[in-house]
Amino acid sequence: MKFFVDTAEIDAIAELNDLGMVDGVTTNPSLIKKSGRDIIEVTKEICDLVEGPVSAEVTAIDADTMIAEGRKLLEIAENITVKVPLTWDGLKACKTLSDAGHKVNVTLCFSANQALLAAKAGATFISPFIGRLDDINMDGMELIEDIRTVYDNYGFETEILAASIRTVNHILDSARIGADVITAPPAVIKSMISHPLTDKGLDAFLADIKAADIKIL
Ligand code: E4P
Repeated sequence: MKFFVDTAEIDAIAELNDLGMVDGVTTNPSLIKKSGRDIIEVTKEICDLVEGPVSAEVTAIDADTMIAEGRKLLEIAENITVKVPLTWDGLKACKTLSDAGHKVNVTLCFSANQALLAAKAGATFISPFIGRLDDINMDGMELIEDIRTVYDNYGFETEILAASIRTVNHILDSARIGADVITAPPAVIKSMISHPLTDKGLDAFLADIKAADIKIL
């Protein structure tokens, strides 16, 4: 399973990247706003830091402008993935850009039917939003399962990029179902390491190291 980091904060990306935890990065207009940075500038910095795909989202809602914006974003670096919304115009832009050999991430996916359309339009990644479905009392994980089934039934190569991840359980459940990629905020990825028995066990070992004066160096 690939790990993408869902942020435009350079320091947070760099910290996880140094540990080999970053296979790619996703951004969106809200994350760019939160960073307080210029979209082109911050996206270039991220692309310089990370080898894998970096999703940068268009701002237009009509296909022609989305395509023009996508082409401008693609000039930033070789590892740019153009992110477009799941609308007919977004799918038109997806088809044009993917036919030209570029990576496209189709975002704001909330149904398996939408995911099917995105795959047929040549999407490299489909981004189903788990947390936002959970927020309205629907089952985000069921959507990941449905898309996995539909894509596997027909051999679609579009990668399922589980997005809007809020908890470590979203990551584990996505891995169990077989999502190709998860994108999560750095804090959620970092909290995957927490286990009270690890802390308790280490405390006991440290106490014995001290009591027996065990030294290696
Ligand atoms: C990533 O590509 C998505 O834009 C992001 O995961 C959305 O997350 P949110 O629902 O927490 O804003």
